[in-house]
Amino acid sequence: MAMNRQDVVTPELAKLLELARQAALHSYSPYSKFKVGAALQLAGGEIVTGTNVENISYGLTICAERAALVRAVSQFGPQIRIEAIAVANLNGAPSPPCGACRQMLAEFTLPEAPVAFPAADGTRIMPFSAVLPVAFEMKLK
Ligand code: THU
Repeated sequence: MAMNRQDVVTPELAKLLELARQAALHSYSPYSKFKVGAALQLAGGEIVTGTNVENISYGLTICAERAALVRAVSQFGPQIRIEAIAVANLNGAPSPPCGACRQMLAEFTLPEAPVAFPAADGTRIMPFSAVLPVAFEMKLK
């Protein structure tokens, strides 16, 4: 059934994936050599990209997705809403967003936002709510 498939790369997602790939060209990853790029489609129509920036103190490394996210908030403010996410890498390897990035993205991403990323069998697309089904939330009583 080809209708309403979650895994169809629409022209908008194809563009976002290409921008993510271009961002990966700027990757600073001398330690892992894994070059990742991310592109966020914002509700206002803007697109913001990011790449991974590593550090000799390995744990300080910032992933491409979080780099894009902090850039988006810095440029457009705290009210941003993310409508689509694309991740790419230049290593021809699977790279879904890591858990830390998922939790950070959850703060600003619509549950139905498609997340496109390289998987073992090609580009995979899932709604954000499936990528992070049980995000931490804090409801004080
Ligand atoms: N990396 C990302 O940029 N995004 C992810 O979601 C997972 C991992 C980066 C961090 C590090 O520079 C390299 O990939 C290898 O872990």
